[in-house]
Amino acid sequence: MSTTYQNLKDILSSGIYEYFFSGADDSVTLRENELSWKRFQIVPRVMSSPRSVSLEIDFFEKKWPSPFLVAPMAYLGMVHEHGDLGVALASAAQQFGFILSCHATTPLELISSHFLREELRGPLWFQFYPYGSHAEWLSLISRVQRAGYEALVVTVDAPVKWTPKAAIDAGFSVPANCPQPNLSGVPPRGSLTDVLKQAFSWNDLKWLREKCSLPIVIKGVLNPEDASRLCDESLCDAIIVSNHGGRVIDRVIPTAYVLKEIVASVANRVKVLVDSGIRSAHDVAVALALGADAVLIGRPVVAALAEGGAQGVAHLFSRWRDELSAIMAVCGFSTISDFKLNIDIRWPKEH
Ligand code: FNR
Repeated sequence: MSTTYQNLKDILSSGIYEYFFSGADDSVTLRENELSWKRFQIVPRVMSSPRSVSLEIDFFEKKWPSPFLVAPMAYLGMVHEHGDLGVALASAAQQFGFILSCHATTPLELISSHFLREELRGPLWFQFYPYGSHAEWLSLISRVQRAGYEALVVTVDAPVKWTPKAAIDAGFSVPANCPQPNLSGVPPRGSLTDVLKQAFSWNDLKWLREKCSLPIVIKGVLNPEDASRLCDESLCDAIIVSNHGGRVIDRVIPTAYVLKEIVASVANRVKVLVDSGIRSAHDVAVALALGADAVLIGRPVVAALAEGGAQGVAHLFSRWRDELSAIMAVCGFSTISDFKLNIDIRWPKEH
């Protein structure tokens, strides 16, 4: 289990707490995820503070107001009645991007009709698990496109889904009547062999790439060779380096330790985003310094939602924006691109 969110045990039932905050098996990866960002050390410059700081970035030929996005997460409605819509509204207001999980309990059209209204907002993306037939994928994707979503995030690191052991032990299960209005088909069930028969493959991705006119973002890449192949075969527009927050299998490498290598193997051919274990604006600064173009935030959003609903989430986002701006200013940089290019970041072994 994560050591960071013990206080929420008083707010959430134990089953829901464990579902959102535990990791796979012994949660070794989850704990390492949180520690890994904190092992890097920034070496600031003095007497070079800028007059102002901008968090704006260039992404998909647009300007985004900040490098932050909310990671797609299932069932946010179980955490607080404000649920997906509350988080989406807080994101739009605070200039964070928002990625809606296909396991969200709110219809995708309701989210976009509110989010897209905000003028100075981040991106709105839809996360997709390819359940069902090719025809069902295309029918959901055309709905996503009609609703105004700006990219399709295809999650490829969870062909087999496990609920964290701690959540099952605490009696967690998704209620049979839980609404799932954004799925392309029924999630595969049955024996491992039955589930694996439907696992998404490189050939499926090639097929999807030809049929889908939205930008495609592949979520869950950890191996630089996979990142290279995705670029060599032009199979996506961006990659999310992610271990799913340590939820799929345990003992997987923290993203902080592979990010630099993946950024090098991608060599500016597509954008690189990262998540897993990011718990503060300082962790975000490290991720940017290691080469990420943008950063996804997972469990900190759940914690803020549980504690304060949509307002709690908006407050968290405002604080992180201020803190990242202050870190950049102290280090002597006025833009994210300058910070990424010139910041001196070290691993203790290099001292
Ligand atoms: C997730 N994540 C996830 N990812 C995805 O692609 N589709 C999904 O439906 C979900 N659902 C989900 C539920 C819960 C409870 C959690 C905690 C996570 C993974 C998520 O997008 C992201 O990769 C991680 O949460 C990032 O790690 P941190 O920041 O939570 O440590």
